[in-house]
Amino acid sequence: MKTDVALQRCISPSCGATYGVHETRVACKCGNLLDIVYDWDRASPPSSLNWFETKWSRRYEPLAFSGVWRFRELLPFAPAEQTVTIGEGQTLLQNAASVAKYVGLGKGEVHLQYEGMNPSGSFKDNGMSAAFTHAHMVNAKRAACASTGNTSASLALYCSVTRLMKAIIFIGSGKISYGKLSQALDYGALTVQIAGDFDDAMQRVKEVSAQMGIYLVNSVNPFRLEGQKTIMFRVLEALRWQVPDWIVVPGGNLGNSSAFGKAFFELKELGLIDRVPRLAVINAAGASTLFELYNNRGLRWNGGQIDQSIVSKYYAELDEQHRRASTIASAIEINRPVNLDKCLRALEVCDGVVREATDQDILDAKAQVGAGGIGCEPASAASVAGAKQLINEGIIGRDERVVCILTGHQLKDPTATVAYHTTDQEQFNKVLGSHGVKRAAFANRAVAVNNDLGEIIKAIQLYS
Ligand code: F0G
Repeated sequence: MKTDVALQRCISPSCGATYGVHETRVACKCGNLLDIVYDWDRASPPSSLNWFETKWSRRYEPLAFSGVWRFRELLPFAPAEQTVTIGEGQTLLQNAASVAKYVGLGKGEVHLQYEGMNPSGSFKDNGMSAAFTHAHMVNAKRAACASTGNTSASLALYCSVTRLMKAIIFIGSGKISYGKLSQALDYGALTVQIAGDFDDAMQRVKEVSAQMGIYLVNSVNPFRLEGQKTIMFRVLEALRWQVPDWIVVPGGNLGNSSAFGKAFFELKELGLIDRVPRLAVINAAGASTLFELYNNRGLRWNGGQIDQSIVSKYYAELDEQHRRASTIASAIEINRPVNLDKCLRALEVCDGVVREATDQDILDAKAQVGAGGIGCEPASAASVAGAKQLINEGIIGRDERVVCILTGHQLKDPTATVAYHTTDQEQFNKVLGSHGVKRAAFANRAVAVNNDLGEIIKAIQLYS
């Protein structure tokens, strides 16, 4: 009997159950997460990465233009005619010298992988194009997600552009920035505001989608992560297929870190790269489940035998102490990351490290990215804050090549940015002080002047 080129498989080696790609599942029957796996002998991937350059001259073809699907030979689960693209993944790897200086690199380089250039303004479009394609393959008519704002903006956009499905999004009331909420509303998604936070919304959307047969696009959906692998393919492409020393990424629901680990594992297995970069996952200090479990409680992938009692004990403590995630980086304000197990595997594959960054460090790093790189939203700057920490600790060498992932666009969360740069102490305290931010060392304050030509000219002469 012929097997499928792609299958869904339980990530737990002791289970290993498989399912066809036309099944819609968010977990194995044993409860563990699922991977998409390929029979590479039948999928016939290219023998070298620079083969993908042949696509550059065919940019008029939507699947060769897409920054996700031009790598479709490395995620071959969908027939071309059912593959959905809205032009995602036209992103940029920027070599940012001033950010390199800020984080303390000497001869090394910091590259910022700017995923804010995606159609909905965040990296989510990479994964959404893949999950949406799968939803289309199984003929779904409604798709849902819980979100801190970017997944929902992305899903809402794919629904509005393609008209293939109706978007239903679950958000924690008051927990999402206006930039992101405005996208979901504008794109016409059914927006359900839950009295609770992301962790509550996530639990509910799982229940609702199971009960109502609605397709779930959160990153428990293994197809999402196939799309997110391509962020790493584009990093390699921009570096002319050279592997950097470090990939530094913010950690929230841990979809990206998991996808990056899978990407590098597969590239190595296929002989398309000769070494795997190291991975650093950066939590916000107010939402630091991975940091706590990995660094303080010794949680490891352990060949797939994860000690789940460590995790349940920690979650029980959070509940007992009524501790909820709290950070100005609202995109990663998550205490129960759904991809925890896959992330542990990625940390093993990539000899990874985990750090946490305070909101103060995140916002200072964000201001530096804005001033000398391409702007980003707060959560994204966790990568730069984390890189700075790791260089200070001597874990990242000063002559190494570091890629920080900027996950979302600067305009996603103007409230945090304006509060950082404001002269209004009350506004600063209200938005940032409540998160323990005390200073704005890199603030660029607006100059207030009367509506008087002389005074305006004087101010410009004084400050420029
Ligand atoms: N950065 C941004 C801008 C995000 O929106 C998210 C996640 C992350 C980082 C964390 O990525 O989950 O792969 O570790 N946002 C999700 C959302 C949770 O609903 O938009 P991760």
